[in-house]
Amino acid sequence: RSLLKWSWRLTYLSAVGGLAYVGYGVYEMRNPPEQMEPDASKKTLVILGTGWGSVSLLKKLDTEHYNVIVVSPRNYFLFTPLLPSCTTGTIEHRSIMEPVRNFLRHKKTAVKFYEAECTKIDYEKKVVYIHDDSEIKGDVAATEVPFDMLVVGVGAENATFGIPGVREHGLFLKEVGDAQNIRRRIMDCCETATFKDQHPDEIKRLLHMVVVGGGPTGVEFAGELQDFFENDLRKWIPEIADNFHVTLVEALPNVLPMFSKQLIEYTEKTFSEEKITIRTKTMVKNVSDKYIEAESAGPDGKKRLEQIPYGLLVWATGNAVRPVVKDLMGQIPAQKDSRRGLAVNEFLVVKGTENIWAVGDCAVANYAPTAQVASQEGAFLARLFNQMGKSDVIEQELQKLSDEQEKAPTKEARDAVFHQIKENQKRLRRVKQMGPFEYSHQGSLAYIGSEKAVADISWLTGNLATGGTLTYFFWRSAYLSMCFSTRNRILVIMDWVKAKMFGRDVSRE
Ligand code: FAD
Ligand code: NAI
Repeated sequence: RSLLKWSWRLTYLSAVGGLAYVGYGVYEMRNPPEQMEPDASKKTLVILGTGWGSVSLLKKLDTEHYNVIVVSPRNYFLFTPLLPSCTTGTIEHRSIMEPVRNFLRHKKTAVKFYEAECTKIDYEKKVVYIHDDSEIKGDVAATEVPFDMLVVGVGAENATFGIPGVREHGLFLKEVGDAQNIRRRIMDCCETATFKDQHPDEIKRLLHMVVVGGGPTGVEFAGELQDFFENDLRKWIPEIADNFHVTLVEALPNVLPMFSKQLIEYTEKTFSEEKITIRTKTMVKNVSDKYIEAESAGPDGKKRLEQIPYGLLVWATGNAVRPVVKDLMGQIPAQKDSRRGLAVNEFLVVKGTENIWAVGDCAVANYAPTAQVASQEGAFLARLFNQMGKSDVIEQELQKLSDEQEKAPTKEARDAVFHQIKENQKRLRRVKQMGPFEYSHQGSLAYIGSEKAVADISWLTGNLATGGTLTYFFWRSAYLSMCFSTRNRILVIMDWVKAKMFGRDVSRE
């Protein structure tokens, strides 16, 4: 009985402790302390972008060592792994956004943020040109920002491979606005399909949801869309049930090429059970407003071009280099052979430069363009810059000490300063000892619909390839723990509960 009593007390105490901890966390978040003003004599560090790479750097950077300036057209961080869930309203987009102002305001020394796009980086002049792209513009909408050190973390844009009609008729899935457009278009297609006197062929076309690209973006979106149909749409709009259909088109022989063979087969089997059609070895060549033209091998093995009608077209064929990055590459001779982005060395320094670093999807460092890589690169740069900042301070101290040593009146005083110099030199050597960037792969995860996920996870003992409902709970808890803040975590959980209790919202905004 006394054991039971004690365990009750312990549970009670830990609950109170947990609540107090969360409460303090919320209080601290809502009440940022006073910040120090940046020291004008320090170097100016300009960081481009507020995505995975740049934000991971900012999170861990000791801002007192630099004058930090952040430039990005987006004044928030976006947790992209849960973006496919926003296309169907399983998660509301604001739940996976974190305003940069919130976390910048918590840095010890103030950081300047300019909501603007960097239109050009002038390597020789050490200047970035920025442009306010928002709706409201002041008298000054374009200006320049000089830098001593620059971090390029602008990510990548959507690849279209120059295929005609993609930009005009297809929808991408990279930003919040994209997810909102897709959500709106799904509902528009459903409502238009039920319009009075609509022809059966037109109904079929409008309810044909085509996803091009069988990478993780395309697969996760197709899974989410089929869930939306099965759990909500067919219930509230039963007249679309016979015609609503999702097709995933992929040029290669299989989807999810980065996963193991076993998980690829599991995904393809699950999709077939979910009634999602996968068209592999099918390359889209042209897009018009109502159909795509795709090339595939016919039954006789000969290539044929086929017209596939669609109502919604989501284009998810990977990344392309942004113009601002291409332009910078053109200014640096050492970048002339690089095609996929800024070639960097093992310290993430842009090859051919001394004061420019690159992180994430815009950097080419022989890793896949993922959030996992970008955030580890950002954290590495933070450690590097913190050490550089500390060594600058130690070097200044050393300079002061050597001046003192010269002026010291007695041998004892000179010896005392000499001892301090030795200590500082030791500290400096320690601080300067930092190895190159090493990526540690934690594994790959993807949601494939009907509450199933696939995971290729790296364990101590090797790799584990797993798929199914348990993996889905692992997927959820892993992404929840990776969310930017406690606020995001709580909002995402609330969205999941809301979607489970009331279903997803089928109104068209
Ligand atoms: P981004 O996160 O794209 O950030 C780029 C930043 O630069 C943005 O703030 C942008 O506004 C800003 N910017 C753009 N142009 C300019 C400019 N000219 N000047 C200044 N700023 C600029 N990876 C995973 O590891 N796991 C996942 O589950 C996963 N899921 C994903 C789901 C989706 C739908 C998508 C699209 C991607 C997913 N990824 C995932 C990939 C991951 O999101 C990217 O690899 C990651 O975002 C790259 O980080 P980044 O910092 O390089 O770029
Ligand atoms: P991707 O590059 O991984 O896949 C694009 C696919 O489109 C390729 O398989 C390609 O063969 C296909 N394709 C290209 N052109 C085509 C055409 N004309 N017709 C038909 N198919 C065509 O792109 P994705 O999925 O956007 O991912 C980008 C990056 O983000 C990747 O590095 C990926 O790993 C990462 N990511 C990771 C996720 C996860 O871990 N869960 C989720 C989403 C993205």
